[in-house]
Amino acid sequence: GWKMENVLDEEIKVIKQTVGPEEHVICALSGGVDSTVAATLVHRAIGDRLHCVFVDNGLLRYKERERVMETFIKDLHLPVYCVDATDQFLSKLKGVVDPEMKRKIIGKEFICVFDDFAHKLEQELGNRPAFLVQGTLYPDVIESCPPPGTGRTHSHTIKSHHNVGGLPKDMKLKLIEPLKLLFKDEVRQLGRILNVPEHFVKRHPFPGPGLAVRVLGDATEGNALDILRQVDEIFIQSIKDAGLYDLIWQAFAVFLPVRSVGVQGDQRTHSHVVALRAVTSQDGMTADWYYFEHKFLDEVARKICNSVRGVNRVVQDITSKPPSTIEWE
Ligand code: XMP
Repeated sequence: GWKMENVLDEEIKVIKQTVGPEEHVICALSGGVDSTVAATLVHRAIGDRLHCVFVDNGLLRYKERERVMETFIKDLHLPVYCVDATDQFLSKLKGVVDPEMKRKIIGKEFICVFDDFAHKLEQELGNRPAFLVQGTLYPDVIESCPPPGTGRTHSHTIKSHHNVGGLPKDMKLKLIEPLKLLFKDEVRQLGRILNVPEHFVKRHPFPGPGLAVRVLGDATEGNALDILRQVDEIFIQSIKDAGLYDLIWQAFAVFLPVRSVGVQGDQRTHSHVVALRAVTSQDGMTADWYYFEHKFLDEVARKICNSVRGVNRVVQDITSKPPSTIEWE
């Protein structure tokens, strides 16, 4: 493998040479490892001529906005502007049940918000941003054949690329992709060298469309998103408390668009059903469902039904990929 210290020095050098002394750079932070490492690296090279934006689309997990903003600002000192676009996204998603339609709407809305940010910045600086940072990884770059001269071969399986993409259309931004030749494990190593906190480096992947693809059907219906956040938080926290988080590729809860009959106290209930999913994987292309101990599952299910109002049934997803995908939508 390559030494990540050398990769870092080399990348910083290249960015300093590429970005002129008066030029500005923008970056959208998703809250994931890739965009965070890419932004931190660029920040090392050009300081506060980097301008990051983090979009709260209303589809984030429990306290996620507060948590990632704290890491960006307190731990990494990144110049980041937070946009609360919850109403904008959720109003566009109202009544939409088709998963691909949800993805399209979210992608389009994201570009609008990013566009606004770029234009606002242009006004403030009196100078339009010239570059855009993207946390593209090597597996995203190559579909079938590696770019010539990169020295990379197909030793890892290639994952299909479905990040929410797209750039402001009229801005003619040049791309900076400092992770373009790296695999995920190398990005994590680079993150550690850049002092990205360990808990952040090890975070499970989270899809760009967020909880919209984990509330099956209309994500804006009732308090589904809120219920899902509470259930997901209990599940993830229990996994962390049991010391299992790092053994799992991805774990999450899914809100099902059905109600089932239950009995709580001496009351019959007709409430929501949630599913728990946890998988192990190398690259997300294939995955195996994770075996929890019965005691662990029992405690999680009790905790969920006891503390989340509106849930009276918990089921576990016991399928691998294939035949299922990791996400339910
Ligand atoms: P699937 O569900 O296709 O997921 O087995 C494989 C991996 O990709 C993530 N995923 C997404 N990531 N936008 C993303 O940025 C998406 O639309 C999307 N859909 C799935 C999924 O969480 C898993 O890690």
